[in-house]
Amino acid sequence: PYPAYARLRETEPVYKMLFPDGQEGWLITRYNDAVEVLMDPRFIKDISKLYGGSIEQQSVFMHTMLFSDPPDHKRLRGLVQKAFTPQMIAGMRGRIQEITNELLDKAEGKTTMNLIDDFAFPLPIIVICEILGVPSADRDKFRVWSNSLIEGSNGEHATEMFKHMNEFIQYLSQWFEKVRKNPGYDLISQLIMAEEDGDQLTERELYGVVALLIIAGHETTVNLIGNTILALLENPDQLNLLKDKSDLIHTAIEESLRFNGPVEFSTSRWANEDMEFRGKSIRRGDLIVIALNSANHDQGQFKDADLFDITREKSPHLAFGKGIHLCLGAPLARLEGEIAINSLLKRFPLIELAVDKEQLEWRPGMIVRGIKELPLSLK
Ligand code: HEM
Repeated sequence: PYPAYARLRETEPVYKMLFPDGQEGWLITRYNDAVEVLMDPRFIKDISKLYGGSIEQQSVFMHTMLFSDPPDHKRLRGLVQKAFTPQMIAGMRGRIQEITNELLDKAEGKTTMNLIDDFAFPLPIIVICEILGVPSADRDKFRVWSNSLIEGSNGEHATEMFKHMNEFIQYLSQWFEKVRKNPGYDLISQLIMAEEDGDQLTERELYGVVALLIIAGHETTVNLIGNTILALLENPDQLNLLKDKSDLIHTAIEESLRFNGPVEFSTSRWANEDMEFRGKSIRRGDLIVIALNSANHDQGQFKDADLFDITREKSPHLAFGKGIHLCLGAPLARLEGEIAINSLLKRFPLIELAVDKEQLEWRPGMIVRGIKELPLSLK
């Protein structure tokens, strides 16, 4: 996979290019360079440092941990981190299994299933809605908004994106009103209560974090589940091995994250000073994008990097990033992935692709890597 990345790693590992949103920047394709950029504080996230207050920061995400640097980052992440520790997430195993079973029950007796729409998509949405305390019945709306924000940030459909973003903010503001009057035990209630106690999150920051979590819940784990099933179907020996030994699921999920990580081009930074990096002159304000799926196929780091091997151990892949912005949802995504894949294979051990492989399409845009539709025959 990824022949273009392989060529770049070989010949032009720090590559100047035009990104789909029209910005020029540098693409980092080697593993060691990716780690270096992710760990180096000279590469920052908060662009207001570069452009001052002169640019109108319209995106709801601008006021989130994902687009902030220390010390703000610590405050913004600290407030939600408590809800996502491995211990907290482990406590959700039973509920995630229940939701999984309910979704699989609906496919019972059918001959085919659309893995993405019927299973991989609803599972993480229901889970994140429960964590946040928003009604998962509104998930059709969330899907429209979430898609629009992702597509809008590709530079296309910008007007549409702002319209949807406003609708989304209106929805959240009504929801926050409700929670203020009648708080529960969910994460939004906790954040709002913390806000009132110590004024820790501004209203804008509150919208931002909730939007970030909803979008992260929509755009990532769905692709982890889809990409894992696809890789297993394309490697029947690995599929059979996993069916025989379901406790290989941990390394299987890690291998899937390495092999075809769900996040493609959205791990970016900005240079906060002029510098030389691998012989290139990088200027203050330059955009740097880390091609995680390229780093994860770097032969220098992973033996037989293009081989999908679910028994691969100690795989320090970068699918969740690295450093202070390491994915907050990683323990949740891993658990959802493990439960989803093992439960699906247990319930429907004879799954096969229901269409020709050539008919499968990857989702457009370069932010996420995932299959649009994955029709399976259940036998
Ligand atoms: C950050 C990937 C699932 C919440 C990140 C980053 C990556 C990533 C690469 C770092 C971005 C950067 O450094 O610029 C993934 C993948 C997922 C996944 C591959 C699924 C397989 C989730 C889920 C949630 C989540 C389920 C929450 C419900 C976040 C948050 C951040 C983040 C809040 C920002 C952390 C920070 O800036 O400190 N994710 N993610 N992610 N992710 Fe995930």
